[in-house]
Amino acid sequence: MDTRLYTRTVVDHFWNPRNLRAMADASAEGRAINRACSDVVRLFIKVEEGRIVDSSFQAQGCVACVAAASMTTELVKGRSVGMQGDVLGEEEVVEALGGLPPKKVECSVIAPNALRAALESFRGQ
Ligand code: FES
Repeated sequence: MDTRLYTRTVVDHFWNPRNLRAMADASAEGRAINRACSDVVRLFIKVEEGRIVDSSFQAQGCVACVAAASMTTELVKGRSVGMQGDVLGEEEVVEALGGLPPKKVECSVIAPNALRAALESFRGQ
């Protein structure tokens, strides 16, 4: 990994990913894939009283993918599942990471897409 490409926050979330685990008692889970490289994120949410109280992930992906998934699980905690539109957008994830090289931004959308899939699954129950 060429750490000169990435912010300290990205490098930290890659080497020390937050919430990297399967969640046995998840309220829902979602998966998303980057069709360009076949990397995948599996994202779990636990919902209580309309709020996401916990989130975790598993991933097969590059530095940007793993860091974005880690950040997504941190940012989404406490958010209401009843919000209109996106609970969490990919722009917010990239901003929280301090930015990404332009060609790696597409890698950061996998986790937010997995979150959308988890929320769709939850709302469909
Ligand atoms: Fe596959 Fe980044 S290269 S997600």
